[in-house]
Amino acid sequence: MGCTVLLGTQWGDEGKAKIIDYLSEDSDIVVRYQGGPNAGHTVVVHGKKYIFHLIPSGILHKGKIGVIANGVVIDPQKLLEEIAFLESEGYTIDNNLLISDAAHLILSYHKAIDEAMEELREKKIGTTKRGIGPSYSDKCLRVGIRIGDILDCDYLKERISFVVRLKNLQLERIFQKPVFDPEQIIEDLMAFKNRVQWMVINSQYFLHKSLEEKKKILLEGAQGNALDIDHGTYPFVTSSNPTIGGALAGTGLNPMNIDTVVGIVKAYVTRVGEGPFPTEEKGPDGDKLRESGEEFGATTGRPRRCGWFDIELLKHTNRINGLSELALTKLDVLTGFPKIKVAVSYEIDGKKQEHFPSCALDRIEPIYEELDGWDEDISRCRDYNDLPGNTRSYINFIEQSLKLRISLISVGPERESTFRKD
Ligand code: GDP
Ligand code: IMO
Ligand code: MG
Repeated sequence: MGCTVLLGTQWGDEGKAKIIDYLSEDSDIVVRYQGGPNAGHTVVVHGKKYIFHLIPSGILHKGKIGVIANGVVIDPQKLLEEIAFLESEGYTIDNNLLISDAAHLILSYHKAIDEAMEELREKKIGTTKRGIGPSYSDKCLRVGIRIGDILDCDYLKERISFVVRLKNLQLERIFQKPVFDPEQIIEDLMAFKNRVQWMVINSQYFLHKSLEEKKKILLEGAQGNALDIDHGTYPFVTSSNPTIGGALAGTGLNPMNIDTVVGIVKAYVTRVGEGPFPTEEKGPDGDKLRESGEEFGATTGRPRRCGWFDIELLKHTNRINGLSELALTKLDVLTGFPKIKVAVSYEIDGKKQEHFPSCALDRIEPIYEELDGWDEDISRCRDYNDLPGNTRSYINFIEQSLKLRISLISVGPERESTFRKD
């Protein structure tokens, strides 16, 4: 028995957490493998909304183990807030959450540098300002601080003393920003250590051992394919690999451990932050999608840009990730559109494109097909055969264009509004 990977196929916010929550019931362990508190993963249970930033979304199911694996960047302050919130809701986290000793930390200077960089940039990325890019950069520069480092006070002091000197020079001389006190950072980290040290493990070994014990593991991607540092719309991307490669590097699992890769796909497309978005709908249809879909960022509250389903982007995502199947979310949001547009190919400067390009993304002209919409309220449907004919045609169109099966359909934010297609 191997692992199932769930990942975002578009620009994030596809409804990953809702599907993770649905599939968690049949799993033993749920693992976050990349990104950090830039993620905002929403699960709605009995009318109560839970937004996860670092803790795996499966943790709401009793007895499930959540693992924050080595590929994630952890902001101690955000993690403590999230633990405290879940505890206030009656969940016991201490026995259910494990944290990789190899995961890197996001510290105060990372957030300050993230903000300062955005301030300085002429073309802004529109980051979440959660310190994601600066923390991953430090990992690559080999000056990052890992969770395991906080367990050895002398080693931590040595690492912090050097890196804070480096960051303070950068903050003061380049950005003209206030500097940080290394003693204060160490003090905060010691308080963090006292709260979480029992949860810290070698997650790579733990996951392999769990597989030997026949445990079912679900890997929860954050962000999405088009935000991938290598395969996304660079430079308007995040600083990690939300794609299948990131799932392996971010956990230490190997390709033989992966059974299924489920692509989470929204029935239309959204994007938060700046950057190319070929099927963006800036007119009233975009506003209608935003309103009906309540498209406001779960992390920053920013209005999400909205647009039409993009087959060319999904073909690219499928090539990169080798998707086994798709879970289609937010289908209910398309109710009431007389015509629904789907981008089936791209042109750049009048030339048809063979594939999703890496450059000149601003000049993409999508070629659309229009499908008939439906007016029926589908939010109470729990069976594919109960969906209106035009809704089924829309689903079939996507399946046939991508040669991929849609196995799960979601028609509302609540846990109950997900069903298997066949
Ligand atoms: P994630 O980051 O991919 O986990 O997605 P987000 O939580 O950021 O955004 C998805 C939003 O859509 C959340 O507010 C969910 O509660 C909501 N949602 C998820 N699935 C559905 C659905 O099928 N229909 C509707 N109307 N809302 C949904
Ligand atoms: P989930 O997991 C949507 C976007 C930001 C910005 C870019 C870089 O909820 O789908 P960063 O702070 O990562 O350096 O910002 O990436 N972004 C997301 N957009 N959903 C997310 O996560 C995102 N995480 C980052 O808006 O454009
Ligand atoms: Mg989100």
